[in-house]
Amino acid sequence: MNRIIILVSLCFLFVGNVFAQSASVAAAHPLAVDVVESILKKGGNAYDAAVAAHFSLAVVLPRAGNIGGGGFAVIHTSNAEAATLDFREIAPLAASKDMFIRYENDNSSLTSKLASGVPGSVKGMWDLYIRYGSRNLSWSDLLTPAIMLADTGFFVTKKLSEELNYNSSDFISQNPNGCGPFCKGFIWEQGMRLVQSELAETLKGIRDIGPNYFYYGPVAKQLVEQNYFTMLDMASYQIRWRKPLIGEYMGWEVITMPPPSSGGVALLQLLCGSERDLNTMQELESVASYHDFTELTRIVYEDRARHLGDPDYMNTTTADLLDTSYLYKRFANIDPKRAGKSPNLAVPLSEESSETTHFSILDKDGNSVAITTTLNASYGSKRWVSGFFMNNEMDDFSISPGVPNQFGLIGFEANSIEPSKRMLSSMTPTILVKGDQKVVLGTPGGSTIITNVFHVIRRFCRFGQTLQESVNSKKVHAQAWPEVLYLEEGSYTKKVLRKLKKKGHKIEFKKQIGRFQAVSNGTIAPDLLRTGDSSGRVIFY
Ligand code: DON
Repeated sequence: MNRIIILVSLCFLFVGNVFAQSASVAAAHPLAVDVVESILKKGGNAYDAAVAAHFSLAVVLPRAGNIGGGGFAVIHTSNAEAATLDFREIAPLAASKDMFIRYENDNSSLTSKLASGVPGSVKGMWDLYIRYGSRNLSWSDLLTPAIMLADTGFFVTKKLSEELNYNSSDFISQNPNGCGPFCKGFIWEQGMRLVQSELAETLKGIRDIGPNYFYYGPVAKQLVEQNYFTMLDMASYQIRWRKPLIGEYMGWEVITMPPPSSGGVALLQLLCGSERDLNTMQELESVASYHDFTELTRIVYEDRARHLGDPDYMNTTTADLLDTSYLYKRFANIDPKRAGKSPNLAVPLSEESSETTHFSILDKDGNSVAITTTLNASYGSKRWVSGFFMNNEMDDFSISPGVPNQFGLIGFEANSIEPSKRMLSSMTPTILVKGDQKVVLGTPGGSTIITNVFHVIRRFCRFGQTLQESVNSKKVHAQAWPEVLYLEEGSYTKKVLRKLKKKGHKIEFKKQIGRFQAVSNGTIAPDLLRTGDSSGRVIFY
């Protein structure tokens, strides 16, 4: 009997240790997951792995992984230190409030050289490495996997081959001087090798010289020569370490991104609204729940439009917007019976294809990082410089009061264009913490990021679904303008649909909302159901 007890205890000890010794990662490409594993196994921590993954995604996921864009990192260390890193692009010094108005009909905020903000990713990754890297690995070690992937190439997936073929004519028309392998006019097929020699050269420069190669050296020189920016624009780019927004939801600490992302504020407002007195969101996928959600978003996206932008230019504080008495007053106007009316602020929208990427890493010591990074649209402006695509993030500013951007989002003064200002984002990398448990999560999806993160957190924390069930679940989205409730295929029954229409909701259907990448202790939840090459792994040491 005693022997059995000892054996069982040993088993528990062993299983416990295995979990303690495991790391987890979820990302939008299996090669990025391989890179994370190799860095962790060489003694790197989650932050080293994130830097290496970010550079590798710039190679294997050129639609969104980038060095020509920017993003946000939310961090929670093994010592329970919470931080956020803002490496969002900034408007060049020559930018002005009305710069796109005269171009209103020709999409210049999306497709021209003026569409690009000064990229933040290279400085962002450098500062992440300097501040949180383990020092077991050098900067050069973290660049090496990306350089190898660019230099020797990698096999194109089905998804990538389709995108490259789809965008081929745009690549060629946007880049009269060529764009390396992207302008060759090949018909891409799954399994072909994509070699990016120009990108490899740029990455080698960044490896050897550091971020100065990008911001003062040959890359800056190229960008200046091609009239994107001035030398001063490039040299004056700064990342920002920002105090995270921290909320509480169902006993979990919710650590999320403050402005210039609207994501954190909107997420915490939605979580608060969904649990208010006499709330109607006690069920999943019911008429009452979808109705209340739509009405909450009407309030949350109005606050986003009116108040949020680069925090250096905001007149309202995040504390004001998260104050519960303020929020309860706003929520009190919701009519449980009828669809409300969004204030008359927006003109009709146009929609474009878009892409961003998110990855989540939790290492064996409990260091965690959630990074969402983007070029804005798929392949950004589709303009290619020094081996990489440039962002078209200027479209995230409010080009003109009430004029929607590619996601239908509108804005006013807080998000108007000014030199060196950061454009408002919806990216919502988030970490949930309860004791030793951590959940690291996020998704692409433009304006739908916020509601997607909200639904996953709610399903996981409130309704006890597993992380994977929460990620897989069919999503719903609304954003005040246009006055539409978007339902992902499979998220509704005919009865629910009929009753929602009866309440006055205009409904549209979406094939796919987001592409979530989440991890927790010893668990992964990549979004394998929606299109893409998402991948995740529990890594044992
Ligand atoms: O920062 C933002 O909110 C947008 N530029 C993100 C774009 C995006 O997520 C496109 N995604 N699928």
